[in-house]
Amino acid sequence: MTDFSVDADPALSIAGAPELPDTAVPELPAYLQETYAWAYLWPISVRLLDRPWITSAILWGNYRRLKRAAFSEIPPGQRVLQTACVYGDLSYDLGALVGPRGRLDVIDVAPIQVANCRRKLNGVGHAHVRLADAAAPGGGPYDVVCCFFLLHELPDDRKRAVIDSLLSAVVPGGSVVFVDYHKPRSLHPLRGLMSIVFDWLEPFAKTLWRREISSFAPAADRFDWRKETYFGGLYQKVVARRRIPSDPVPSGPA
Ligand SMILES: C[S@@+](CC[C@H](N)C(=O)[O-])C[C@H]1O[C@@H](n2cnc3c(N)ncnc32)[C@H](O)[C@@H]1O
Repeated sequence: MTDFSVDADPALSIAGAPELPDTAVPELPAYLQETYAWAYLWPISVRLLDRPWITSAILWGNYRRLKRAAFSEIPPGQRVLQTACVYGDLSYDLGALVGPRGRLDVIDVAPIQVANCRRKLNGVGHAHVRLADAAAPGGGPYDVVCCFFLLHELPDDRKRAVIDSLLSAVVPGGSVVFVDYHKPRSLHPLRGLMSIVFDWLEPFAKTLWRREISSFAPAADRFDWRKETYFGGLYQKVVARRRIPSDPVPSGPA
């Protein structure tokens, strides 16, 4: 099997980074090695792709808008978990939003991504980057969990496990914010192209065209679900807020 060690590229080495070594090292999932190695595990890809304009192009110019949509759910001063590294400036901007009265934990299952994100957050004292699988994030409880474009890359059984563990990681009254792909409207000009791209490069994404995110959650009824779509339905934000006992009677999943 290919060696995806970060030591291949000293600039991305975890050694000397401001965080302590990780205690429990998760396995690199098979889907990541087989489907997404070229995007996230090769040092050359990290160097070339980690630019806001590339992320913006991949999202058809919607990166900032979708970031704003996620950030509008996150008040400053909270304990926030970002469930995977994202290319571009999302983590840095999220750290600025959370501010020094709060805490930002960023996790990723790939050591090279952890090293790269630590580099980007170097000097942000209230931000911590560590190696963990989103299906077992640890470190909680959190006020808000931000899951930005991770779900569409996961096989369905992993989607279920990740959604379940993220919902378990928030306090009563806290929220999990999912921003991801969604089924575009039938006459959307990019629908055909995105369908081809997904069939070719993103084999687990189309489940989000067929199923609501809430339908993966075994404990969906303990949360209030809210969904908004963007850019003709190609993207969605789903917010799951954990109910507190004094809340009115549930209205059901979105
Ligand atoms: C958030 S997703 C995609 C984000 C977006 N497409 C971008 O431009 O960066 C990519 C990240 O998810 C990470 N990842 C994949 N599966 C994961 C898991 N189960 N737990 C934590 N991180 C995971 C990958 O290592 C990668 O860094």
